[in-house]
Amino acid sequence: MAANTGTLEALGIGPDFQENLKQFWLRNNLKLDIPVVDLQHIWLVYLIMELENELLIAAGEALPEEKVRKIMGDLLGFATEHFSLEEDLFLAFDIPDAMEHADKHRHFVQFLSERASEVKSGKHDSVKTLVSFLKDWLTMHILRDDKHYADYYHDTGADLKQYFQRQIEKHALTIDRGQVAVYKLVSESNEVHEIVNENIASNVVKIWNSNNLSTQIPIIDLQHLWLIHMVVELDLASRSRNMATSAREKICQRVVQQATQYAHEHFTTEERIMEKFKFAEISGHMRQHQGFREFVARRALEFRRGDTQAAIKLVHDLREWLLSHIAIEDHKITIALKNHLNDVQKFVRELINSGEITLRKKQIDLYNQVCGLQRV
Ligand SMILES: [Fe+2]
Ligand SMILES: [Fe+2]
Ligand SMILES: [Fe+2]
Ligand SMILES: [Fe+2]
Repeated sequence: MAANTGTLEALGIGPDFQENLKQFWLRNNLKLDIPVVDLQHIWLVYLIMELENELLIAAGEALPEEKVRKIMGDLLGFATEHFSLEEDLFLAFDIPDAMEHADKHRHFVQFLSERASEVKSGKHDSVKTLVSFLKDWLTMHILRDDKHYADYYHDTGADLKQYFQRQIEKHALTIDRGQVAVYKLVSESNEVHEIVNENIASNVVKIWNSNNLSTQIPIIDLQHLWLIHMVVELDLASRSRNMATSAREKICQRVVQQATQYAHEHFTTEERIMEKFKFAEISGHMRQHQGFREFVARRALEFRRGDTQAAIKLVHDLREWLLSHIAIEDHKITIALKNHLNDVQKFVRELINSGEITLRKKQIDLYNQVCGLQRV
């Protein structure tokens, strides 16, 4: 909750603003019970009320032109993003009246972009009129048009959770921390859990930094980061209360399988390096790797047999094992090779060129993201 309050403060949403947002949402009964859509609608309400808030703060004095322009730009950009999410949803589920609905979106965007240039002069009256028009339009549109498709989905039992999950996996949907904070405040719902998946990377960064896991050998760091990424993904999926059981199981199964395979790939890389540079404790280290392989295979079997607690136990143990192995055992490799890091680098290049190690773009992105953040 404290983190949420901090985020709200950073967005300039004080207690009165919070109350106004909640009241507007509840009074108009805007909830459609599709968490991602509700979140985006709440964010649109927030942007409109941010504009209104500028009027209140200015209290008759000149409006800050720069700020008003920024809000209008945000509103236009986000409305476009939201409409395209809805229209994709119509296409994916073959909704009736989709064309008429999309036309309304287009007219609104057109209107908004015309007004955005007029409002730049920052006149109070015109902004006031605009705010009340925007509030009315959005309310009516949600209650009539959007409710129409929401009812259709609810009636036909379409699996929207799975649909959005796929969008998140494909990175077709982004939800930032500010949006989550405002959603939590207004909807007072915990359903947000399932859409916080964008936080996988930030969880990885947190784990990485607080456990001091860098080995200073880029390829090993990259592979460790990817293993932690998988554990975090599995953790979120196994704890998600709102995801349908079948979707959760599918994600867990996929990640367990990938993690097992990737651990094997990683161990092979480490073992090749230890062997090449005649690391003294290689046999003990390899035994640990072997122990891990057997342990995961056992757990994966329990998991396949339908032990519902197996996923949660597996995540917990994976995490414990991985973090302590990296921090203690893999750290010994760093110490032993610290004067040969350039040679290690050269050797790794050879392994990559010969195809013994494969790098994937997502892994490189994650590595750059974390190491970039670390340097700050
Ligand atoms: Fe909408
Ligand atoms: Fe709509
Ligand atoms: Fe390792
Ligand atoms: Fe290792």
